[in-house]
Amino acid sequence: MISPALILFSSFLCHLAFAGRTCPRPDDLPFATVTPLKTSYEPGEQIVYVCKPGYVSRGDMRRFTCPFSGVWPVNTLKCTPRVCPFAGILENGAVRYVSFTYPNTITFSCNSGFYLNGTKSAQCTEEGKWSPDLPVCAPVTCPPPPTPKFAVLDAYEPLAGNSSVYGKQAVFKCLPPYVMFGNDTVTCTAHGNWTELPECREVKCPFPVRPDNGFVNYPAKTALHYKDKATYGCHDTYVLDGPEEVECNQFGNWSAQPSCKASCTISVKKATVIFEGERVKIQEKFKNGMLHGQKVSFFCKNKEKKCSYTEDAQCLDGTFEIPTCFKEHSSLAFWKTDAWDMKPC
Ligand SMILES: *[C@@H]1O[C@H](CO)[C@@H](O)[C@H](O)[C@H]1NC(C)=O
Ligand SMILES: *[C@@H]1O[C@H](CO)[C@@H](O)[C@H](O)[C@H]1NC(C)=O
Ligand SMILES: *[C@@H]1O[C@H](CO)[C@@H](O)[C@H](O)[C@H]1NC(C)=O
Ligand SMILES: *[C@@H]1O[C@H](CO)[C@@H](O)[C@H](O)[C@H]1NC(C)=O
Ligand SMILES: *[C@@H]1O[C@H](CO)[C@@H](O)[C@H](O)[C@H]1NC(C)=O
Repeated sequence: MISPALILFSSFLCHLAFAGRTCPRPDDLPFATVTPLKTSYEPGEQIVYVCKPGYVSRGDMRRFTCPFSGVWPVNTLKCTPRVCPFAGILENGAVRYVSFTYPNTITFSCNSGFYLNGTKSAQCTEEGKWSPDLPVCAPVTCPPPPTPKFAVLDAYEPLAGNSSVYGKQAVFKCLPPYVMFGNDTVTCTAHGNWTELPECREVKCPFPVRPDNGFVNYPAKTALHYKDKATYGCHDTYVLDGPEEVECNQFGNWSAQPSCKASCTISVKKATVIFEGERVKIQEKFKNGMLHGQKVSFFCKNKEKKCSYTEDAQCLDGTFEIPTCFKEHSSLAFWKTDAWDMKPC
């Protein structure tokens, strides 16, 4: 008599012997998919591991069959992300990145004066390519600079198409008699415009005034302008105080206003003085008068110490003041020693 329980038990053993044990759900593998994915597999059933899009491995896939033991074989498949071409350098700009592998995104920026021709960022795709294409940093360009009124372009080297790139300069010149106000040089900025343009303005100077005891010559024109010149001179015995030639400056002023200064007559009859480093007899050296601005040193006595010292005197527009310490002897007082014959203090 075979008990039903024994039949059940032996059929279970048979099952073990012929069908083996079932395999469990296979392990998850990073960046890979399993097909078909189930919670259990009969011995003999097959599964396939494949890397997910954007990931690769040596050999690409693994096929396994559920063994009778019910234990999946060791899986050595390793899926790694695809690597996009190196994109770490952007000329005239910078690239920000963590890695060049799928599915990372890298971002771009350009240096001042350059703009991004292309997109701000690109992604490494499943195919291992950058999408969209990598951009370039192109220089900012400026249109030809506008020419100020009464000016001409003195120096300008445009590119083909008349534009200029960032940093290039143009130089203006004012047409005479216009005067430049501002900087003659303009520069193409990072904004694609030019720095502030100069201005050319007309500058007039008043007619020069004739100096007392002298004259002034200037061009016979209805108006005198920037850079026009005038020349001054003085009548006999008068000396020009200032330059002979003056120029109308950019402020509408003359560079100087010379005047004529009178010369001095010398009241001293007899004295030795120092003039331009040399001892001279004042009555001989300046018998025609002393010119405005000329300077001499008189000798004076120090009675206590019986020595001499000097004091200066200058001709200033007809006035010549003799130092008070100077004493002129009567020509009869021959026994007295003159200060200029005494030893210096
Ligand atoms: C900007 O990119 C486009 C397309 O790549 C190209 O045709 C063009 O010449 C580029 N411009 C500059 C200024 O680089
Ligand atoms: C460049 O400028 C000149 C003078 O302003 C003009 O004659 C010429 O047609 C311009 N060329 C282009 C390509 O714009
Ligand atoms: C004019 O501008 C140029 C460049 O922009 C600068 O180098 C120069 O010093 C400026 N000149 C004056 C007089 O400001
Ligand atoms: C140039 O453009 C920038 C930005 O638009 C502006 O701020 C600047 O004032 C402009 N410069 C001149 C000289 O027009
Ligand atoms: C012209 O020069 C005078 C003196 O030299 C000065 O006082 C005046 O301010 C100047 N005028 C201008 C417009 O610079």
